[in-house]
Amino acid sequence: MDTFSKTDQNIINTYARVQKVFVSGKGCVLKDEDNNSYIDFLAGIAVCSLGHCHPKITKAISDQASKLVHVSNLFYTQPQAELASMLVEKSFADKVFFANSGAEANEAAIKLARRYFYIKGDKSKFKIITMEKSFHGRTMAALSATGQEKIRQGFDPVLEGFIHVPFNDIKSLKKCVEQNSDSDSGSSSICAIMLEPVQGEGGVILADPDYLQSVRKLCDDNDILLIFDEIQTGMGRCGRLFAYEEYDVIPDIMTLAKALGNGLPIGAMLASKKSKQGFDFGSHGSTFGGSPLVASAAIEVVRIISNPDFLSECRQKGEYFKQQLFMLKEKYDFIKDIRGMGLLISLEIETKKDNKIDAVDIDADRIVQECMGKGFIINAIQGNILRFAPPLIIEENEIDKLVICLDGIFAKESRS
Ligand SMILES: Cc1ncc(COP(=O)(O)O)c(C=O)c1O
Repeated sequence: MDTFSKTDQNIINTYARVQKVFVSGKGCVLKDEDNNSYIDFLAGIAVCSLGHCHPKITKAISDQASKLVHVSNLFYTQPQAELASMLVEKSFADKVFFANSGAEANEAAIKLARRYFYIKGDKSKFKIITMEKSFHGRTMAALSATGQEKIRQGFDPVLEGFIHVPFNDIKSLKKCVEQNSDSDSGSSSICAIMLEPVQGEGGVILADPDYLQSVRKLCDDNDILLIFDEIQTGMGRCGRLFAYEEYDVIPDIMTLAKALGNGLPIGAMLASKKSKQGFDFGSHGSTFGGSPLVASAAIEVVRIISNPDFLSECRQKGEYFKQQLFMLKEKYDFIKDIRGMGLLISLEIETKKDNKIDAVDIDADRIVQECMGKGFIINAIQGNILRFAPPLIIEENEIDKLVICLDGIFAKESRS
C-alpha cells in the first residue's frame, strides 16, 4: 500500500491534505518521493523558521537524544532551566510554563488568568474577551476562545465565559467591558482580553498600533489581564523576537509555540510578575512540557533568532517581499490587498462576493496547487487569501522566483 492509501485508510480524515509525500528537507527546500524540489514558503505553518534540518538544531537534538530525552517535570533538567532563563531574559516575563503545543499554551494562559482573580478572591471575574476572526487552537478552551464559528461548530456547549468582539475596534471593546461591569461598584467581570497582535489564520490582519495601546490602557483601567497569543507572530516571524516589541505594548501573559522548537513540539506560556501569581503547586501541569529534548532544540532557536542582525535581516527581507507583491498588485486588479509584518505576509484576492461585478473568479486554493506544480509551497486561508510564512532564512532570489511564478499564474488567470 502506498503512503496516500495507508494514511487515508488509517488516519481520521480531519485534514484536506495535498497529494504529496515529503521525504526530506534542507534549508528552504523540501523534496518529495519522486525527488522533486520545492521552495517552502510555508515552513510547516510558520514553524520551521530556521529552515529544514538546520545543522545546529539537528546537532542539539542528536546530542541531547543520546544523553537524556525525558524524565518528567517531577525533576529538574538543565535544558529546561536554560531555555526558561533565556525566555525570561529576552521578554517582559518573570516566569514561564512549558507545554507541548500552541493550544496547550493558550489553555495555560486561560487558566492562569482565571485563577489569578480566583486567588484574589474575585470568583466572578472569569470572562475573557477575544477577537472575531482570531484563532487560538483546537482544544475545548482554545476553540471557545477562537472567534470563528466554523471552528466551534458541532462542539456545543463550548466553554462558558468567552465573548467575541470585532478586531481593531476599540469602541466595541470598551462597550463590551462596560456591559460586563457592575454599574454600582464599577468592577468588571472580565478577567482577560486575549488577542493575536497580527491575526494569522484570520488573514494576516495587523492590529493598529493605536488600538493595541488603547487595549493596554483599557486593561489597566479595569484590572483586566492582557494576553497576547504570539504562537504565530512570535520568535522572529514579524521581524522582532516578539511582535509586541514592534508595538511597544507589553502584555501580562504571552503564549508561544510553533517556531520555538523549529519543528519539535513545544509550547510556552510566559507570565509577568503580577500574573504569575495565579499558579502555584498543583494548579497546572504537563508530563512532557519542556522535556530536555525539545528544550535543547529551542535553546538553539532562541540563540539564533534573537540575534539583532538576524532580526534586522528578517525585516529587510519582509519589506523586499512585500514590495515585490505590491508590484504585482499594480499589475492585477483582482489583487485587493497586500498585508504583513516581517515575514508573515498575505495577498488578498478580490472575489465576486466583494460585489465587483467584473471580478475574476479566482480560487486561492487553485493558485496554491499551481504554485505546487511549479515547485513552490504556499498556503491559502479564508478562501481568498494567500499566506506566505517562509523560513526566516529565505533568500531574496528565492522570493524573486516565487514572485515570477505568481506573475505567470496571475497573467493566465486574468486572461481566462
Ligand atoms: C495564533 C495561534 N494560536 C494558536 C494556535 C494553535 O497552535 P497548535 O496547533 O500548536 O495547537 C495557532 C496555530 O495555527 C495559531 O496560529
